[in-house]
Amino acid sequence: MSDLHYFSGFGNEFATEAIPNALPIGQNAPQKAPHGLYTEQLSGSPFTAPRLLNRRTWTYRIRPSVMHKPYQRIPNGLVRSTPFNEIETPPNQLRWDPLPLPDAPTDFIDGLTTLAGNGDSSVHSGVAIHVYAATKSMTDRFFYSADGEFLFVPQLGSIVLHTELGILALTPGEIAVIPRGIKFRVELSETQARGYLLENYGQPLRLPDLGPIGANGLANSRDFHTPHAAYDDRDNGTFQVIAKFLGNLWATDFDHSPLDVVAWHGNYVPYKYDLHRFNCINTVSFDHPDPSIFTVLTSPSEIPGTANVDFVLFPPRWMVAEHTFRPPWFHRNFMNEFMGLIEGQYDAKAEGFVPGGASLHNCMSGHGPDAETFERASNAELKPVKLSDTLAFMFETRFVCRPTKFAMDTASLQHEYYTCWQTLKKNFHP
Ligand SMILES: [Fe+2]
Repeated sequence: MSDLHYFSGFGNEFATEAIPNALPIGQNAPQKAPHGLYTEQLSGSPFTAPRLLNRRTWTYRIRPSVMHKPYQRIPNGLVRSTPFNEIETPPNQLRWDPLPLPDAPTDFIDGLTTLAGNGDSSVHSGVAIHVYAATKSMTDRFFYSADGEFLFVPQLGSIVLHTELGILALTPGEIAVIPRGIKFRVELSETQARGYLLENYGQPLRLPDLGPIGANGLANSRDFHTPHAAYDDRDNGTFQVIAKFLGNLWATDFDHSPLDVVAWHGNYVPYKYDLHRFNCINTVSFDHPDPSIFTVLTSPSEIPGTANVDFVLFPPRWMVAEHTFRPPWFHRNFMNEFMGLIEGQYDAKAEGFVPGGASLHNCMSGHGPDAETFERASNAELKPVKLSDTLAFMFETRFVCRPTKFAMDTASLQHEYYTCWQTLKKNFHP
């Protein structure tokens, strides 16, 4: 997919056409759109949202989205949604090994599994946290969620996201966001693919304000990439579109590919970002800031500073703090932390937290370095150290993350997780 082209920038207005002169000039809805295309606007925000928050894209497509038969309910598989009340949520620290890859050929939709979630998708608040594990490409199957936007965090295997607005190639170490409502299919570049998927019911993810950091740093706008227009003019066969709507899956057949947008302009777009470009900022003296310093993207809520969800990255970085316990400290937080590991090791856990695995530490549940890490870090020589073999992330959300029944029943749940802290010694000497 080396011939894919992207625009640079976050939240920009883009204009793109897959064939010359497909975009109307100077107006959005000419009496007849160029090349016999249909005009369709896709609104990602209320029409009246302030300009800063207003998101919409004008598409010029072979057929309008309305042209399909009624959707019918299909089984949800292991996809779950609000109110996430299958089981009672325990206050315990939870950790999972990676879910096994499927034996039978399984595409992205069939391999989608919900681990936890919160809020209420019907009022655009909260999140669902899924993992995907696929061994087969979607070819004549397409998917969209009316419940939220999707943040892809691939962990194993490269994938290609064919969306209505263009094609994004995605490899572990990169992330991508597909906005609410935009149809897509997931193609595997290798024999298998696995990753994390945040479904954000809330305000669209955006770059955090930088405050005293200044005009640059953390994730820089120019490093976000949005695809050029690309269309799929297929109408020989059956094309199944699966909608996720109020938590349930619905399917219908189209007589053509829904990825038939030939040209578009707007700012409601899919994008990707290479996590290795994150400009990581941390202490050059002592102690270290709260992990909010690692925020890549944030979905704010109506309460200032209280994110519906933050996407937080723990990338390779130098540790230089003097007279300081360098790993994350012991803590209990207001916010709720779901963590995943893309590659390498996480500095607060010597073992047990492996790539593809996950952990969940909910509101006021104590956690922090395991006993082995505490011993090592308390006695380490404090010379500059490069943490190079690591790429961990966190979905940090204001509501308690309620695990699904599957997440609590799966053999991947580490029932012995709590023991990693049980050998912490009493060192008190008054
Ligand atoms: Fe934490």
